[in-house]
Amino acid sequence: MDLQGKLALVTGGSRGIGRAIALELADAGADIAINYSSNPQAAEEACELVRAKGRRAMAFKCNIANDPENHAMIATIRKEMGPILVLVNNAGITRDRTFAKMTHESWNEVLSVDLTGQAMVTHEVLPDMVNAGWGRVIFITSIVGEMGNFGQSNYAAAKGGLIALTRSLARETARKGITVNAVAPGFIETDMTSVVPDNVLEQVRQNTPVGRLGKPEEIAAAVRFLASPRAAFVTGEVLNVNGGMYMN
Ligand code: NAI
Repeated sequence: MDLQGKLALVTGGSRGIGRAIALELADAGADIAINYSSNPQAAEEACELVRAKGRRAMAFKCNIANDPENHAMIATIRKEMGPILVLVNNAGITRDRTFAKMTHESWNEVLSVDLTGQAMVTHEVLPDMVNAGWGRVIFITSIVGEMGNFGQSNYAAAKGGLIALTRSLARETARKGITVNAVAPGFIETDMTSVVPDNVLEQVRQNTPVGRLGKPEEIAAAVRFLASPRAAFVTGEVLNVNGGMYMN
């Protein structure tokens, strides 16, 4: 119960990796604010699962790419639930195309959610952590941000940008009791990868030493460690959880 009494915000927390993170942090004792963009029912279901663990949970609708919405959401969470001391920047999208065929619009769409949105939520939340003299920021980046991927130049640029942001922000906040880290998942079984063609997923399995895709709970376990007080000396780190597909 490392996180007892602390409030965690998980963006995109109604399904997939985000939902697993919300449940794992609840197991660690945290109360949970779940941000969602479009499906109130799924968000409420995730909240119910958290409440069943004896923690407080509320869902907050917001498109993280929209600054005024972000501002309003964080103010509402503070009012309804208190200061946010653990932030998991998980919301993300893909709009895959080769770079030659990519439109300016799909480039901007991905960058505005996966990089700028995550950065701006963090900007809004950081004062809570500075006031408390304690905080945990965790960005969900991707193996693709480290090794690149055919057809994902927009996504790779955003996720690579998150790694650079992680390291910069870690330096700026270390003396304030705040750690900033990233988790870089490999290929994980969620809605996001359900649209990837079978032959590509088979190739992924063959290129992954562990020989399978990962599970959302395996990402959540890494986040729980980084969020815990025991990880106080870990900052600016990118924790790979990828079955050995990429090692650096
Ligand atoms: P998912 O598609 O199931 O979940 C993404 C969540 O983000 C959804 O709940 C969605 O509603 C939310 N979201 C999207 N745009 C939003 C916006 N503008 N504002 C607020 N919420 C928004 O995908 P999954 O797999 O659970 O992905 C979670 C994170 O993990 C993403 O950042 C993704 O890039 C990253 N990731 C996923 C991998 C995978 O293999 N599934 C691999 C590496 C990273």
